[in-house]
Amino acid sequence: MRGWRLRTPVASLAGVGLGLALMATSEVPRVEAQTPAQREQARKAYEDHMRRMDEAEKAAAAKAATPPAATPPPPAAAAPPPAAPKAVATTAMSQADQDAATERGLEQYRRMMKEDPWSNPALLDADRGEALWSEKKGPQNVSLAETCDLGKGIGNVDGAFAEMPRYFEDGDRVMDTETRILWCMERFQGFDSTAFRKNPHPSGGQPVRDIGAIATYVANKSSGMKIAPKAEHAKEKEAIALGEVLFFRRQGPFDFSCATCHAESGKRIRLQPLPFLSDPKEAKAVVGEWPAYRVSSTHVMTMQHRLLDCYWQMRLHRLDFGSDVSVALSAYLYDRARDGEIAAPGLKR
Ligand code: HEC
Repeated sequence: MRGWRLRTPVASLAGVGLGLALMATSEVPRVEAQTPAQREQARKAYEDHMRRMDEAEKAAAAKAATPPAATPPPPAAAAPPPAAPKAVATTAMSQADQDAATERGLEQYRRMMKEDPWSNPALLDADRGEALWSEKKGPQNVSLAETCDLGKGIGNVDGAFAEMPRYFEDGDRVMDTETRILWCMERFQGFDSTAFRKNPHPSGGQPVRDIGAIATYVANKSSGMKIAPKAEHAKEKEAIALGEVLFFRRQGPFDFSCATCHAESGKRIRLQPLPFLSDPKEAKAVVGEWPAYRVSSTHVMTMQHRLLDCYWQMRLHRLDFGSDVSVALSAYLYDRARDGEIAAPGLKR
């Protein structure tokens, strides 16, 4: 990633001594660190913003649910409305209760899955993905199984996911699993991806789209293996380095970086646990679970979708499916999680 550590060209023109001095002082810092206090402040601003949004949403829902004028308003003698701070505390409590209940439910779900691995609904999508992988489709009427190389030879899915993202010579770029599947669909099956790219992820309740289902199948075919991207090719190393820069880069209206929410242990936001993703130990524990069935939205969420969602949380512009930025962020995450176990599809809140 030389581009990110550019040294001034003047340095090379100047005398050796001066040049060395310039090089020593003109290195662009790779990481824009935030002090813990700044992180806390950014997160507080976000929590406030989310609370205001929640309250506005609740107020709108209450207004919509209010029966028409026929019902008399509550008598003036009714209990006075609680003071504002108390109301906030009450909301927080019930939210906490709800979250604790979700957590308990998830725990129970995870136990059930241990006893019966087939109880994860994402396996239905993996099955759908398997069928899609071998189905002849598109203007060229060929299957991915007979054309697409995920890095382990045409049609071979076993262990392919474990080495993603990786450099592909035919496309001359690093791709993650989802990006590669889309690439093959365009290249071999002849699909035009314009419409897909506009709306690549399901909304709550909708099933994961075909590419996500295929990615779930492919990931499942590496389940039990270790996360082991090669990181040998210069472009693979570059993608990881770019991902690291992006992970720590502060941007957007809240001055957030990924690290604002994901670079400390034991943090929560709106009561959701925030894994410390730049720490290999915590990255290993969670990264290999994607794609995962997300209980709260009742569908499989892929890594591309997860990243887009975090970009949305940062109030950044939309993260394009398969873009270099999305691939670089995954390359960084899978590199951090190296040697962690793949347990995909996982199960998330
Ligand atoms: C405003 C805080 C915030 C920021 C900034 C943020 N995320 Fe997240 N992230 C979350 C939350 C909250 C969750 C958990 C969501 C859930 O439980 O549904 C999450 C979950 C994740 C997960 C899944 C973790 C797991 O448990 O498996 C990944 C991976 C991730 N984020 C990556 C990123 C990356 C990469 C960035 C930067 C592009 C980023 N996040 C920026 C809040 C944030």
